[in-house]
Amino acid sequence: MRILFVCLGNICRSPTAEGVLRRIAAEEAPELRLTIDSAGTADYHVGAPPDRRSRAHATRRGYSIDSLRARQVSIADFRSFDLILAMDRDNLRDLQALAPRDATARVCLFMDFAPGGEGHPVPDPYYGEAADFDKVIDLTEAAARGLLASLRGRGRLVLRDG
Ligand code: 4NP
Repeated sequence: MRILFVCLGNICRSPTAEGVLRRIAAEEAPELRLTIDSAGTADYHVGAPPDRRSRAHATRRGYSIDSLRARQVSIADFRSFDLILAMDRDNLRDLQALAPRDATARVCLFMDFAPGGEGHPVPDPYYGEAADFDKVIDLTEAAARGLLASLRGRGRLVLRDG
């Protein structure tokens, strides 16, 4: 199963989600053998490491994202990933507009996998405060655990079309 997280800049939310799912999956579901990546709908920060605030909060919570580098989502991603998980509705809309006819990836909101989180965003912390960066980790942990439960067949695999 190949999973791509997508936000706007690929320097705050989606690299955090990548780091969170990598660690939780390695610890709690190594049998799933996931391929995990992240990208941004925008090209503003291509090649840049995650935002220093995201890195600091991730490190404090035990996640390693320092080595990640931002990239923009590509058309090929729709054919090479199984699941593309958007952080908010803007990301979802942009992804749906970009998807080629022969896309094989399913695209939905990441928070659809969190208990009670269906339809909710992971809010953009870029112009926010420390608590907003911590909240990104809280939300992505909940959604990551829900996603793993779904992939193991113990939860409901929620896949919205829009
Ligand atoms: P992200 O956050 O989409 O979670 O990576 C943002 C990063 C950069 C900008 C906006 C949001 N920006 O406007 O540069």
